[in-house]
Amino acid sequence: MKKLLIAYDGSEASTKAIDVALKCSNKEDEVILLTVIPAALVESTFTNMLLPTIDLKSVVKSGSFKEKAMKKMNEIAKQMEGKISKVDTVVESGDAADEILLTSKKHEADIIVIGYKGYGKEGRFLLGSVTDKVVRHASKSVLVVR
Ligand SMILES: Nc1ncnc2c1ncn2[C@@H]1O[C@H](COP(=O)(O)OP(=O)(O)OP(=O)(O)O)[C@@H](O)[C@H]1O
Ligand SMILES: [Mg+2]
Repeated sequence: MKKLLIAYDGSEASTKAIDVALKCSNKEDEVILLTVIPAALVESTFTNMLLPTIDLKSVVKSGSFKEKAMKKMNEIAKQMEGKISKVDTVVESGDAADEILLTSKKHEADIIVIGYKGYGKEGRFLLGSVTDKVVRHASKSVLVVR
């Protein structure tokens, strides 16, 4: 039995990461499906300046962001049923790479599965910054999906 942590941000690359993770796993394996709500979304002074009428902090604090993310994650988890023994869905907020590393430790994941890019900066880098940080700092193996 092995535990795979899949980092999901809704992007095409992270959707492919789910497919590849399932291809590389068997029925005894467990999956931790993680998404991180970026701290910048909540704390950016730029956002606050631009949208002073919207209190993003209260929106996030009320849990609606987290609940919505959880709902979407549970839908994805449902599609994995039967292919593996167990799926845990986790929604955190903060720095994506830090939370991926922390969650993989906490859940004792054997492998982190991650896309090579996400939403940002189309084609400018070979690796997204989250993937770059996770690959550099992880103490376990990282599968970067292309
Ligand atoms: N908020 C997040 N929550 C969970 N996983 C994430 C998150 N952000 C990125 N990832 C994971 O990291 C992979 C690469 O995304 P990354 O953010 O590094 O690239 P990018 O968005 O193209 O570039 P950058 O964010 O550096 O502008 C994604 O496919 C996904 O697997
Ligand atoms: Mg990104």
